Amino acid sequence: MTPDHRIHIDLGARSYDVLVGRGLLAETGSFVAEAFGGKTRGACVIVSDSNVGPLYRDAVESSLRSTGFTPTFIKVPAGEASKSMSCAETVCRQMAQAELDRGSFLVALGGGVVGDLAGYAAAIFFRGIPYVQIPTSVVAQVDSSVGGKTGVNMPEGKNLIGCFHQPRLVLADVETLRSLPDREYREGFAEVIKHAGIRDAGMVEMIDAAASVDDRSELGDLIARNIRIKAAVVMEDEQERSGTRALLNFGHTIGHAIESSAGYGALLHGEAISIGLAAALHLSRKFAGLSESDATTLITLLKKFELPLTLGPDVDDALILAAMRRDKKFDAGEIRFVLARAVGDAYVSDQVTWSDIEEAVAAVRAD
Ligand SMILES: NC(=O)c1ccc[n+]([C@@H]2O[C@H](COP(=O)([O-])OP(=O)(O)OC[C@H]3O[C@@H](n4cnc5c(N)ncnc54)[C@H](O)[C@@H]3O)[C@@H](O)[C@H]2O)c1
Ligand SMILES: [Zn+2]
Repeated sequence: MTPDHRIHIDLGARSYDVLVGRGLLAETGSFVAEAFGGKTRGACVIVSDSNVGPLYRDAVESSLRSTGFTPTFIKVPAGEASKSMSCAETVCRQMAQAELDRGSFLVALGGGVVGDLAGYAAAIFFRGIPYVQIPTSVVAQVDSSVGGKTGVNMPEGKNLIGCFHQPRLVLADVETLRSLPDREYREGFAEVIKHAGIRDAGMVEMIDAAASVDDRSELGDLIARNIRIKAAVVMEDEQERSGTRALLNFGHTIGHAIESSAGYGALLHGEAISIGLAAALHLSRKFAGLSESDATTLITLLKKFELPLTLGPDVDDALILAAMRRDKKFDAGEIRFVLARAVGDAYVSDQVTWSDIEEAVAAVRAD
């Protein structure tokens, strides 16, 4: 079958394709064989979580098997807690027990948690084996499955351990979005709206229309458009050196601090990023000449996906600021803050001071 979209990520020897379409899972084996230059034999593992595994394991496993591969299934508990060193070790041990060799590969089937964890296991097992991402959440399809950032958390902070390890293939099957719980579905749109804000004003109408689709599997064009934005940024700055990749932090500087200050599970990542975007839009109005109507355009989209825009009384300003000061994104205390001049035109600024950030946090505080 031909996928609706094929997006080539050109990174020299680490290049790969992202395929977007409906019903791709049932064809996993042949897409994998194609990505591996015609290979149709050998051991592999499928890593998935306790929510996604029961829904989609069979389709992926039987397709790989009928192509000629011999998959072993590895299940991890659903949830962010699985992004840990101990879980990475468990996955690696199960890979060793499955008698993988250096020619074997891993398939990460699930949301961003599975993608980051399994990608990291693939990066360190035998000092790196190839892997395939099969993202099943909005966040994973438009963001985490593309770009090669893998890793796990530590009690001292999120994503503190990890490495760059690009996948060999990404299969984004939009039919899987149908089973995603509503809250997780909506939070993914914070990243979609972020992409429009940094690079693609033309996407605003599509996002607006997406708010009222009944069948989520109709979102392939929108998902592919987001992947193209992420891909362009990654191709310009694969390992976050030139600063281009930092644009993806739009809304995240304050958003991350809100997420960690709100207490575990109170706000999903995308919900915290939504408030972070509101704060970043406030600062963009102040420093970047962003018009009120452009700010309103993005705020209106966030509202359409029922994402929060203000801080509740249970999140303390001092905690948010302290979390920001600990953030690994701040090089030697210098604040590099992503601002937008207009929808689709973001840049990294060094103009923003701590007192501006305090002001922005106050601006998103509910009265
Ligand atoms: N590597 C990167 O560049 C990058 C970028 C963004 C986010 N991330 C990471 O991604 C993670 C968040 O990803 P996420 O939001 O996908 O979280 P997640 O993987 O925890 O998925 C959210 C929930 O939805 C369930 N789920 C996923 N797909 C489903 C489906 N199709 N049907 C039913 N249930 C489904 C999961 O089991 C989980 O309970 C975070 O750890 C974050 O740090 C990484
Ligand atoms: Zn994010």
